[in-house]
Amino acid sequence: MLKLVRYPDPILDSVAEPVTEFNDELINIANEMFIIMKNNNGIGLSGPQVGLSKRIFVMETNRVQRIVVNPKITNKSGLGGIEEGCLSFPGINVKVSRPTIISVEYSDLSGNNIVETLYALDAICFQHELDHLDGITLANYLSKTVRSYIMKRLERERNERGEQDS
Ligand code: CO
Repeated sequence: MLKLVRYPDPILDSVAEPVTEFNDELINIANEMFIIMKNNNGIGLSGPQVGLSKRIFVMETNRVQRIVVNPKITNKSGLGGIEEGCLSFPGINVKVSRPTIISVEYSDLSGNNIVETLYALDAICFQHELDHLDGITLANYLSKTVRSYIMKRLERERNERGEQDS
C-alpha cells in the first residue's frame, strides 16, 4: 500500500524517472493514488508524494479525472495565480504565479499519446503536479524566511506524529 509523503522528505526534491512499462502495476499505482488523493481531499497527487520516483500523477479538476504519465508542456500563455495547497504541506497555502493556458502532451495508462489544451484551475493543477516530478514543491515558491519557519513547523509536527506516519 502506498503512503502519502510529507515535506521535508528527500524524494520530494528529486527528479522522477520516466515511466517505461505500461502494465497492471501502473494501473494499480494510479488507482491507489486516486484513493489517497480523495481520502485527503486533494485535487492532484504525484508519484513522488507516495514515495515513487516515477513520472506519473493523477488529478481531478472540474469533475474530470486525469491519469498523466510522462507529461510535458509544449506551449504556455497567460499569467495568473491562486493560493495553492499541497498534500505534502498540510495546512500551508502559497500564492504561486503561473501561466493559465497550457498545451500539454502525455501518455495515458495504456501508453497512448494525449494532446490537450488546459485552462485556469486545470492548467494550474497540471503545472503543480508536473513540478513535483521535477523535484519542485511549494517550498521553492516561498521566501527564505517563510520557508525556514514552515520547515521548522512541519519538522515539529512530524516528530509529534512519530516517524512511522510518513
Ligand atoms: Co503538491
